[in-house]
Amino acid sequence: MLKKIFKFISSILAAKHLYITKSLEYFDKKDLFLDLNMDYVRYRTLELCMSEIKKKGIQGNMAEVGVYKGSFSEKLNKIFPDRKLYLFDTFEGFDVKDIVVEKENNYSTGDQDFSDTSVEFVLSRMKNRENCIVRKGFFPATAEGLEDKFCFVSLDADLYQPILAGLEYFYPRLEPGGYIFIHDFNNQQYVGARDAVIKFCSANGLGFVPIPDIGGTAIISK
Ligand SMILES: C[S@@+](CC[C@H](N)C(=O)[O-])C[C@H]1O[C@@H](n2cnc3c(N)ncnc32)[C@H](O)[C@@H]1O
Repeated sequence: MLKKIFKFISSILAAKHLYITKSLEYFDKKDLFLDLNMDYVRYRTLELCMSEIKKKGIQGNMAEVGVYKGSFSEKLNKIFPDRKLYLFDTFEGFDVKDIVVEKENNYSTGDQDFSDTSVEFVLSRMKNRENCIVRKGFFPATAEGLEDKFCFVSLDADLYQPILAGLEYFYPRLEPGGYIFIHDFNNQQYVGARDAVIKFCSANGLGFVPIPDIGGTAIISK
């Protein structure tokens, strides 16, 4: 009886593209420690990748390009409290240089406003603030002179230019076994993200895994 009710409810939800699924049934649940989040797929995948980094003892620091109010960065800072976390953002929204390219290529309108944030606000929500290094301004210029190795990088700048520049800068500095998450790979509002990933991977003979989270993240591993 219960099975029938479950099947019935599932079919109604599935018609609305909402799915009830048993996830990670055979995974040791003690390794899952982030709060449940609206974007279940994105955060569970992050946990699994971070868990691999831990289990394999992969060294290196972390970075996010496109921090905005710090929702995703906060998770990174929580997962690896002892590793440096580089925070790259203008903290004033998109740069006009990137928007020009977006419009020329019909990638996006570039008119989403991400200016309602600040370095102070982002740092105030970081539990391990002492390991956060803020690189405020236009990326990739803000990476100049920085030499480090990375175990995890999140590219969430939405636009073609900073995403491609992020791949070009971080992939050579990624530790073997490390990950780069590129958000918006399958986001129809920001098709430049997809182009940047395809272009970089084709030029360098790399593969990637697309995952079904809200923005459609692509994951590159080394
Ligand atoms: C979608 S938001 C990031 C969301 C964030 N990761 C989160 O967890 O909520 C995109 C951010 O990318 C930043 N950004 C886009 N292009 C940039 C560039 N060339 N240099 C620095 N920051 C950039 C914007 O300022 C904006 O804050």
